[in-house]
Amino acid sequence: MRLILAALAFALVLIRPAAAQTGFDGVWLFDDAPDYPGVTMMQVTTGNGVTNGIVTTQWYGPMRMRDVRIEGDTATFEMRTLNDREHRVRTWTAHLTDDGVTLAGDIWSSHVEQTGVRGTPAEAAQRTFMMMPLPPMRTVTQAPLAKTPPMGWSSWNKFGDKIDDKTIREIADAMVSSGLRDAGYVYVNIDDGWQGTRDAQGNIRPNDKFPDMKALADYVHGRGLKLGIYSSQGPKTCAGYEGSYGHVAQDATTYAAWGIDYLKYDLCSGEWFYNDRDSVMRSYAEMGAALQATGREIVFALCEYGRFDVGEWGRRVGGHSWRTTGDIVDDYETMARIGFEHNGDPANAGPGGWNDADMLEVGNGGMSADEYRTHMALWAISAAPLLMGHDLRTMDAETKAILENPEVIAIDQDALGVQGRKVRGDGKAEIWSRPLADGGAAVAIFNRGTEPTAVTLAPGDAGAAGLDGLRDVWRGAVVAAGTRTFTVAGHGVVLLRAGG
Ligand code: GLA
Repeated sequence: MRLILAALAFALVLIRPAAAQTGFDGVWLFDDAPDYPGVTMMQVTTGNGVTNGIVTTQWYGPMRMRDVRIEGDTATFEMRTLNDREHRVRTWTAHLTDDGVTLAGDIWSSHVEQTGVRGTPAEAAQRTFMMMPLPPMRTVTQAPLAKTPPMGWSSWNKFGDKIDDKTIREIADAMVSSGLRDAGYVYVNIDDGWQGTRDAQGNIRPNDKFPDMKALADYVHGRGLKLGIYSSQGPKTCAGYEGSYGHVAQDATTYAAWGIDYLKYDLCSGEWFYNDRDSVMRSYAEMGAALQATGREIVFALCEYGRFDVGEWGRRVGGHSWRTTGDIVDDYETMARIGFEHNGDPANAGPGGWNDADMLEVGNGGMSADEYRTHMALWAISAAPLLMGHDLRTMDAETKAILENPEVIAIDQDALGVQGRKVRGDGKAEIWSRPLADGGAAVAIFNRGTEPTAVTLAPGDAGAAGLDGLRDVWRGAVVAAGTRTFTVAGHGVVLLRAGG
């Protein structure tokens, strides 16, 4: 019987048409993966005359090769790209050489060119990217935090990923000694660049620049401050460090055990996996629920650059703030573009949840004092989080005065929590106003032109508060009764408090 079966199987093999394989079929291993997107493997199969394949990357997992055409030693195929309106797909090539294969193509703004060698199915199994299912959407109750916009400091704008335990401690010290803590800035946030590798159980470990996160948290807490940290729902963070993909709940538990009080969760490489409203929302809800499950009260700051109407659903995933734009740069044009035009819908802001137009650049040197006052006033009238981004250890008196001004901070932190809006403008001058809890209003006259300009306020500019009892906030002085015309410096601002 066994013999008959074996003969039958043999006959079947003989009569089955041989699969026409190409020289590309099989496994190719790439060991010299540059950081982005980190190609580790290519797998190609041909069946029924059609060639399919996958390019596995550290950033985006498996990327499917589409429409594979083979001519001689060259395979040409299309690959999906990311948020690149000009290119929904990009053309890549694989070229057989005497030593292996050369893979070349573009993704986002990077060119990839890597050489690979043949591998075995066993090696392929080791490099296979583990896809993780996303839990269904669930509404997460926000932790009762951020009744007013969060205030603090973040490492990114000044230091990028060149950060370490010592710098964070010194910043915490400077926050106290400068008086900025007592002015309201309490979060000391470590942005990207603290992550190391995972241990055998998958627990994230800091890199060697952060020898003991718990001790660092204790140090920061000991100064009456709170500690923030940063991750991504993707496998890689924006700067290429280890993200939380596949370890979301585990990472939340680790952060809570360290004593973390604030998490900035940045989409980054997750944008490949979660590329529509539903999946992005669910990916935030997954971390929101994981933070909640720790039992620790942690501010949850969403960073997905304002995509998919995040302001409408940020609270539902447990978020306390959500970025409304791409990254700020320390120049007036970028700051003004995001602050005036991309600071989020005021209807979505209020106690517990805030539009975040990105962190402050005040003190980093790329803008004039007038421009930095505009930056600060615009964020304050917009009820935006105030996360300083400069080196507190070396700041000059002007920087300190801009950031520490109690009347400006009081506008930002006003208990009513109503985000201000533009009342009117003539192209260069813009008048913005925000109602305040005491019945008064904040009124900002911005000059987006480069020359000084005189602007006359109209009674309606302060809404119901009217224009009596004006106070010039930057000058810290009462405005002479009846004054309605103000001269505003180029790129500058006159910030007023009315009524109340
Ligand atoms: C993104 C964010 C920035 C910063 C960097 C870190 O670009 O928008 O604010 O966190 O990542 O890599």
